[in-house]
Amino acid sequence: MDVVLIEWLNLILRWLHVVAAMAWIGSSFYFIHLDLSLKPEAHLPKGTYGEAWQVHGGGFYHMVKYLVAPTRMPDHLTWFKWEAYTTWLSGFALMVVVYYLNPELFLIDRSVLDLEPQAAVVISFFALALTWLGYEGLCRSSLRSNQTTVALIGYVFLVALTYGFTHVFGGRGAFTHIGALVGTIMVANVFVVIIPNQKKIIDRLIAGQEPDPQWGAESKLRSVHNNYLTLPVVFLMIGNHYPLLFATRFNWLIVAIVLALGPVIRHFFNERHAGRKSPWWVWGVAAAGMIAILYLTNAGPRQGSAALPTPAPAFAAVEDIVISRCSMCHGPETAWPGIAAAPKGIFLNDEVSIRQHARLIDIVSVRSDAMPPGNITDMSADERAIIAAWLADGRK
Ligand code: HEC
Repeated sequence: MDVVLIEWLNLILRWLHVVAAMAWIGSSFYFIHLDLSLKPEAHLPKGTYGEAWQVHGGGFYHMVKYLVAPTRMPDHLTWFKWEAYTTWLSGFALMVVVYYLNPELFLIDRSVLDLEPQAAVVISFFALALTWLGYEGLCRSSLRSNQTTVALIGYVFLVALTYGFTHVFGGRGAFTHIGALVGTIMVANVFVVIIPNQKKIIDRLIAGQEPDPQWGAESKLRSVHNNYLTLPVVFLMIGNHYPLLFATRFNWLIVAIVLALGPVIRHFFNERHAGRKSPWWVWGVAAAGMIAILYLTNAGPRQGSAALPTPAPAFAAVEDIVISRCSMCHGPETAWPGIAAAPKGIFLNDEVSIRQHARLIDIVSVRSDAMPPGNITDMSADERAIIAAWLADGRK
């Protein structure tokens, strides 16, 4: 496909994806807050769970929640589902444009696993589908009566999967996959459980029958799962743009910490919205987690680091390496199929441009191995060490 067309698809899909996700997460946070702040009041009609007063946009809102449903179907009903569906559809399309059309750059890393492009795409697709089925099985199993067990098993499952993904795909691909998987679980909760249950409830109401309260409870539970998964998924989606996160040795451990921190941080807000005592300890845990991540991002590239050469090499050695490993993409005439112009406008083809980008080179190819993508031009640990020594010696 035409490179310019792909570039535009990338932009438009990303825009749509971010906007849809904002709308979805926004409404999801809003409803969780609303649910937690509902107060049962004596004057409320039968069948209601509680009420809340809110002020916004120049007026007051009086919200009342009916459990499971009002006795009569209202004439107008607003549904919340297309925000979630659009987020998934645009996200999957973006996955196709960025990863499936270009598996060699962002999905495969031959130093991790020597995959054929088609194999990488097939593994990616089925991994998403199968792991979602695993989650669905867990939620429907007899364990579901104990949500703490479900949360713990879910956590271990996601960390194991992260470890697996980081040993099958390149770091960036792995981050996106675990994020995409969690996102898929969340959208599927809406598509497979929450909305169908809501429809069953409405059908019963129209037929003049009492709906099963279990349907409402099940939807509520899935919506709570989604609430706790939101922060990790957003971190992972942003994290795949940060080489020190995805292309360093303990990338999987960083994800494990984030998967734990996200729910802990949500807990703080959930407790507050429910009007309970704010669990301030959460911020201590969050700070400890972030410091641990900071420390782990310093562990160096995944292929390991070589000892720095002494004495520090002259610039000519660095220039040779960068020109032979980077300039076929980051040059005035890119020689790589599928890359129209120097990516991100970064040229690395002469002394001036290399010196100008020294800090970025340090991040993407010395402290991490994000570049060359998938180590496609076979940069060695010794070569990274030569650049590291030159940087440490004051870039002479
Ligand atoms: C096969 C082509 C290719 C090679 C070889 C390559 N890059 Fe890149 N580079 C890319 C692409 C594609 C991107 C844009 C990635 C993205 O979309 O985030 C990029 C982005 C970058 C960025 C910007 C990162 C950011 O955070 O915005 C830097 C810096 C960079 N490359 C440095 C290097 C260095 C240093 C080398 C050699 C060691 C190198 N690249 C080799 C394709 C390449």
